Amino acid sequence: MTSPYAKHWDLDPEVVFLNHGSFGGCPRAVLDEQDRIRREMEREPVRFLHREIEGRLDAVRHALGPFLGADPDDLAFVTNATTGVNTVLRGLSFAPGDRILVTNQEYNATRNAAVFAARRAGAEVVVVDIPFPVDDPAKIRDAVLAAVDERVKLLVIDHIVSQTGLILPVQEIVAGCTARGVDVLVDGAHAPGQIELDLDALGAAYYTANCHKWLCTPKGSAILHVRKDRQDRIPPLVISHGANSTRTDRSRFRIEHDWCGTTDPSPWLTVPFALRWFEEQVEGGWPAVRAHNHELVLEGRRLCCAALEIEEPCPGSMLGSLASMPLPPRPARDGAGELNPLGLDPLHVRLFDVHRIEVPVMPWPAPPHRLLRISAQLHNHVDQYRQLADALRAERLTMG
Ligand SMILES: Cc1ncc(COP(=O)(O)O)c(C=O)c1O
Repeated sequence: MTSPYAKHWDLDPEVVFLNHGSFGGCPRAVLDEQDRIRREMEREPVRFLHREIEGRLDAVRHALGPFLGADPDDLAFVTNATTGVNTVLRGLSFAPGDRILVTNQEYNATRNAAVFAARRAGAEVVVVDIPFPVDDPAKIRDAVLAAVDERVKLLVIDHIVSQTGLILPVQEIVAGCTARGVDVLVDGAHAPGQIELDLDALGAAYYTANCHKWLCTPKGSAILHVRKDRQDRIPPLVISHGANSTRTDRSRFRIEHDWCGTTDPSPWLTVPFALRWFEEQVEGGWPAVRAHNHELVLEGRRLCCAALEIEEPCPGSMLGSLASMPLPPRPARDGAGELNPLGLDPLHVRLFDVHRIEVPVMPWPAPPHRLLRISAQLHNHVDQYRQLADALRAERLTMG
């Protein structure tokens, strides 16, 4: 069986696609809208990119703001969450002895950006371990807050962890950090469309998020939310015309961030269409989309855990539409356990090459050192997770 929604995506029918999490996946209607926007731009590029672009970006901000629970004025457009993270880390000034705190579950690229920013200032990155498997989000909150002391100038933390799919308790963590005078950069790469957001209530100084994952917009569509009292600290990563603008009709934050040189803005401009498209596809709109994906990933996880003969590694309430499971360690001998040149686990490669299943096997810092992560989006069907469970059995991957 296939999902009744699968017809809206051009995904390869020969592949069991259980990795929406890595790069999203764009429905045909959204790609058509992007195409329409690009054609409009190319009919009169100067009108579109010079006279109209600010108004067009404002319209996107006004559609996206309520969806994110954010004042539209506080949103800047960036190409991806990695750029959002770098914009903040390279905008801020650190001094020797300062600490940037990250967790051991931090996304590798984000952690690298923190290390880069720290090194050039003589500051250091400190890593706090948070558990997985885990039975209670309070254990994560307590571990993080226990590591926040007067040397910490910034906490960088994922909202939803890439490898484990865990939704971290960022509301309580941001509140605890704020009480200790420490700003937080939340990497919400996976959050919009996967979980409900209220960025104003969250109150983090900095929050970056992708639209090209769970909102299914074209790739290159993300935002950086900067709290008003921090906006003057964060110039864009690319300095352009806005830097010496004398305009006063818009905030400096908008003037500087809205133009970082010529680029194709269509991935951002499709956001309002994508938001509406999901509302129209599923009765109940976005809450129903999120609930559908959440239920589906939990069922997929149940099937995979049964095949692996393991306990579920965290409560379902700590997940959105990503879920990970520990796998037996890689075979130690005979070359069967070698990573391929792209750094992919041999099981990852076999699941695709032999079983035609696109699903990531990720390294993990603690035993058994690797995780299997599944995703659920409208295009997925429970039978796809049954196929994965069968493949795990065929690969004799039981932990028992
Ligand atoms: C937590 C986290 N941060 C950042 C990223 C990077 O996203 P992008 O490649 O769109 O910048 C990802 C991607 O999966 C992620 O999971």
